[in-house]
Amino acid sequence: MMKTIAITGGTGAQGGGVANIMLKTPGWKVRAITRNTNSDKARNLASQGAEVVQANFNDENSLFKAFEGANAIFAVTNFWEHLFTGKTQEQSGAIEEDKRAEKATKGKVRVPHLDYKAKVDDRIKSELPDLAKKATYLFFGYYPSNMAFLPALKPFEYPGAFGKYIQLLPTPSTAKIPVSGDMTVTPGIWVRQILANPSKSLGKYADVAPEILTFGEMMEMWSEVTGRQGIFVECSQEDFEKIWGPAGNEMAMQFKFGELLDDWHEGYDFVGMEELEIKAEEVPGFRKAIEGLKGLL
Ligand SMILES: NC(=O)c1ccc[n+]([C@@H]2O[C@H](COP(=O)([O-])OP(=O)(O)OC[C@H]3O[C@@H](n4cnc5c(N)ncnc54)[C@H](OP(=O)(O)O)[C@@H]3O)[C@@H](O)[C@H]2O)c1
Repeated sequence: MMKTIAITGGTGAQGGGVANIMLKTPGWKVRAITRNTNSDKARNLASQGAEVVQANFNDENSLFKAFEGANAIFAVTNFWEHLFTGKTQEQSGAIEEDKRAEKATKGKVRVPHLDYKAKVDDRIKSELPDLAKKATYLFFGYYPSNMAFLPALKPFEYPGAFGKYIQLLPTPSTAKIPVSGDMTVTPGIWVRQILANPSKSLGKYADVAPEILTFGEMMEMWSEVTGRQGIFVECSQEDFEKIWGPAGNEMAMQFKFGELLDDWHEGYDFVGMEELEIKAEEVPGFRKAIEGLKGLL
């Protein structure tokens, strides 16, 4: 009997990567959840054999319906959409905070989106113990696709500089960050292996991040792949916020958090790649991801 995985954010980066792999996983059917079943991405999923259903995070009943009969659920946290419209968090509704970032950096930095997600985990554990027994919590690293699709992180051609490109970020080029690899593949490999290894993964955290790289290393690989000279330039948090508004400030706080924290795993019970039987050759890293995006960089 085939099992069904219901995927929220199936038209997005994380959920799209999960759908891509689970559509090819024997024994599983994919139900992709979207607000708009007529979008190009939704139609594309349907053409690959996914059941595409309409639901909205702001309408609980629509989610109950979309999850009916599912054997597994991939749930994405949606935080940034309102910030990218230029609204502040206060304008978008109060958020509950867990102060994860503040605790981990001994009060040096506050990162609302990390706190908000930690609060989701806390509520599952304290208010929904039956769900907590069946849940695995995923951390994602920095997406290589940010350099193609996210204006604030995409290198831009500097006018009059003989074809040189700049990536302007509020962090040093030597700062390290976990990187998620090819987002069309890695999320799905992790989810497939978590589902195949429940005794190893239930109740634990897993890191969808096959590599840790510096921003300078990523810019170097970007240059090698594109054949353009890319230069990483550090700016202040204040200037980044002036350019990108509240979303820029939120990103800058995330980068500061990364600079201050050596070990993202501290305080969490993690199940690693090896334990989940994920082979390195199955999860394309930054370079492969950038090669795949070459026409869009
Ligand atoms: N960029 C990075 O480097 C990075 C790294 C680590 C973690 N993250 C985290 O990734 C998360 C976002 O995931 P993503 O990158 O996969 O997002 P994404 O590519 O922007 O896609 C968002 C998805 O959420 C769905 N969605 C949004 N609002 C919805 C609503 N009200 N009801 C139902 N569905 C809704 C959208 O579906 P429709 O539009 O089709 O309805 C879409 O499929 C954020 O929490 C972010 O912090 C990002």
